[in-house]
Amino acid sequence: MSQSAFSEIFHSYRAAFENFLDTQTLFLLSKNSAPELFEAMKYSLMAGGKRLRPVLALAASGGFQVDSKNALFLGSSLECIHTYSLIHDDLPSMDNDDFRRGMPTLHKKFSESTAVLAGDALNSFAFYFLSFVEMENEDASLYKDLLEILHTGAGAPGMVSGQIYDLQMERENSIYSRNGNSEDRVGLVQLTHRLKTGSLIKASLLIGNRLRRDWRERATSLSKYGEDLGLLFQITDDILDVEGTQESLGKTPGKDVKAGKITYPALFGMDRCKEMVLDLQKNLISLSSEFVSTPEETIFFQELPIYIGQRKN
Ligand code: IPE
Ligand code: IPE
Ligand code: MG
Ligand code: MG
Ligand code: MG
Repeated sequence: MSQSAFSEIFHSYRAAFENFLDTQTLFLLSKNSAPELFEAMKYSLMAGGKRLRPVLALAASGGFQVDSKNALFLGSSLECIHTYSLIHDDLPSMDNDDFRRGMPTLHKKFSESTAVLAGDALNSFAFYFLSFVEMENEDASLYKDLLEILHTGAGAPGMVSGQIYDLQMERENSIYSRNGNSEDRVGLVQLTHRLKTGSLIKASLLIGNRLRRDWRERATSLSKYGEDLGLLFQITDDILDVEGTQESLGKTPGKDVKAGKITYPALFGMDRCKEMVLDLQKNLISLSSEFVSTPEETIFFQELPIYIGQRKN
C-alpha cells in the first residue's frame, strides 16, 4: 500500500467531482439565483478546497464501479453545505477571518449581508440536490434516509450545534480557565470537534454508503470510522493553525490562540496532540478492515487517515 496509489484514487474522485461541479452544479445554481447571489456562491465554491467531503461520498458509494452520477449529486450537496459553513464561520460575528482558500473571505470581497445570504442559499440548494438522486431499485426509504443523514450531519444535531459550542467556549474561556474542571473542558472540546467538523465528515461517508445495496451491513462500522476520522481531521486543523503558514493554508494561521479558542493544542500541548493523531490513525486503519471489500477501497480507507493527519492544508 502506498500514498501514491491513494493519491491517484483521491485525485481521480476529486477530478470527477470538479468536472461535475463546473458543469451540472454551477448550471443549477445560476439558473435558480439572482445574478449577485450566484456570483457570490460561485466565488466561494470555486475558490478551491480539497473537496474532501464529495471524495468521501464517492469512495463510500463504491467509486467508479457504480454509476457515479448519484454520488456526484450527493457530493454537490456536501460541498454546498461545507462552503456555506466556511462562509458563515468566517463572518465577523463568528471567527472574523479575512482569508479563505487563498482569497479574501466572501464578506470582505462582497459584503456581510451577501455572505449571510449566499450561505443561506447554499444550505437550501444542498437539500434540493438530493431530489436529483435517481432511485435504482424499489427503495422506499432512500430519500427519507438521505434527508436524515444530511440533516443529522449538517444541522442542529451536528455541525450547527458544534459551532454554537465552539463560540460558547471561546466566550467563556476565561471562566473555564479560572474555575473549569479540566475533565469538563476535555469533554466539551471533544464534543465540539466531533460536532462542528466530524458530523459532516461522518455524514459524507454514510450518505455515499446509502447508495449501495449492501449499505445496512456497512453502516455501523463506517459510522465509527467516520467519527474518528472527523476528530482526527479537526485535531489536525488545530495543529495546522499553530504550525501552518498563510501560503499553504490559504487562511490566516494563529487565529485560534488570538481568539482564545479552546483547542486540542491549547488543552494538551503539541506533543500529546501528535500522539493522539498517531493513535487515531492506528485505530482507523484497523476499523477500515471491517467494511472494505475491494482492493481500491482497502487502499483508500487505510491510507486516508495518514493523508488527513499529514496534510499541510
Ligand atoms: C476547513 O475545512 C474547516 C474545517 C472543518 C476545519 P477544509 O480544511 O476541508 O477546507 P477546504 O474545503 O479544503 O477549504
Ligand atoms: C470550522 O472550524 C468548522 C466549520 C466551519 C463548521 P474552524 O473555525 O477551526 O475552521 P477554520 O480553521 O476557520 O477553517
Ligand atoms: Mg470556527
Ligand atoms: Mg474558523
Ligand atoms: Mg481551525
